[in-house]
Amino acid sequence: MNVTVFGTGYVGLVQGAILSEVGHHVVCVDVDAHKVEQLKMGITPIYEPGLESIVKENHAAGRLDFTTDAVAAIKHGQVQFVAVGTPPDEDGSADLSYVLNVATTIAEHMERDQVIVNKSTVPVGSADKVRVVMEDVLKRRGRSDISFEVVSNPEFLKEGSAVVDCQKPDRIIIGTSCDATIEVMRELYAPFNRNHDKVIVMDVKSAELTKYAANCMLATKISFMNEMANLAELLGADIEAVRKGIGSDPRIGYHFIYPGVGYGGSCFPKDLQALIHTANSIDFDAKLLKAVEFRNKEQKTTLFQKINQHFNAQLKGKTFAIWGLSFKPNTDDMRDAPSRVLMEALWAAGAKVQAYDPEAMEEAQRIYGSREHLTLCGTKEAALKNSDALIIVTEWQNFRAPDFELIKAQLSEPTIFDGRNLYEPHRMEAKGFNYYSVGRANPTLSITSQAERHLVTASN
Ligand code: UDX
Repeated sequence: MNVTVFGTGYVGLVQGAILSEVGHHVVCVDVDAHKVEQLKMGITPIYEPGLESIVKENHAAGRLDFTTDAVAAIKHGQVQFVAVGTPPDEDGSADLSYVLNVATTIAEHMERDQVIVNKSTVPVGSADKVRVVMEDVLKRRGRSDISFEVVSNPEFLKEGSAVVDCQKPDRIIIGTSCDATIEVMRELYAPFNRNHDKVIVMDVKSAELTKYAANCMLATKISFMNEMANLAELLGADIEAVRKGIGSDPRIGYHFIYPGVGYGGSCFPKDLQALIHTANSIDFDAKLLKAVEFRNKEQKTTLFQKINQHFNAQLKGKTFAIWGLSFKPNTDDMRDAPSRVLMEALWAAGAKVQAYDPEAMEEAQRIYGSREHLTLCGTKEAALKNSDALIIVTEWQNFRAPDFELIKAQLSEPTIFDGRNLYEPHRMEAKGFNYYSVGRANPTLSITSQAERHLVTASN
């Protein structure tokens, strides 16, 4: 099938590449000429395991091309994917202008019946807006004879495993009531729909809401666990034991219940806000979603609070080694990353940061440039040199078994603040570290007695 994809961000590029890999002929359009040139040379603008080789191979095989020429690209595709950004407006609502611009361009140049696939995460009702915009343009052109369908087909890929997620989707949501469109979409996705039928057909609004509901549900699980972790810390319980204890109930499950430093990334924070905004716009008070967002904002400050408390609010002139800047492992993405909240709080308190991340160094450089009090280090060991403590913000694989003796030798005092519970508290104690983690009592600092004090105060 001939497919056109508008937008070469995470969603568009990965989807386009994966569709070409199974034999479809895909043309990806982007307004950024430099990006298009790079992609033609097989250089991807994002770090995503496996993506670059798929792009290179399929481009060389002539199944995947990149262009800034929207008119030629529209002519190519019998299916037009819209995968451009929907950044948050100042009020948190999703900005649809890029999506509607693409819809206008398609309608201005299409010469045959088309299926328009909304792949971007767009608020409920967006497909209707796209349809209205396109109908207007076709009417103006005197081409109301050309028919089209707008289908919602949300993407559920995760950064860091985007290629595999796309190659082996859990579900393929097709939001449309048009039988002919369902057939086109089934044919397009047939190579990914083996073993059992993963296609779930529904009306377009339900498909649009499904994407938000999925992300908000996942964000809720994380905020819930973070709240439990904070409680466990005060009560002297161990959240890791609690996590296993509740995960063993199949109704709860082990996935996505890891406490930490709050969720970041390009999806959860943005989608939560957008759904809260949608709810507000129809006078619905989304109390639970607001609480999830609130807990997450607070959670991003918890590491700093522990550090500040440990150093008796005397952070001026101190130096901290930070391991992990990306919002999660296997990506260089620092959008809404907890590391940013932490570093900015440390700088505000007069501290210096020596940071290392396996992939996000360029991104950190782009965001913070040559900011005073930030040294970007080439290795995790270099970040430790002359630091007062180590702070772990992202759970990259190669942070899991470091050389603890070396860490101890480099730090001015053996203190680790671990935002991802990578190590066992009793082992860290045995090694002579002050070890702070998330939701687990710290033996060195007798948080239990703090909890006891808290309980006494509470019972009074
Ligand atoms: C998410 C959704 O998972 C994906 O389906 C959707 O298409 C886009 O948004 P992504 O943002 O790539 O994907 O990352 P994800 O792996 O979901 O992690 C999001 C955040 O939650 C990260 O900051 C991560 O550290 C945090 N997280 C995740 C936790 O704190 N605890 C967990 O148990 C899981």
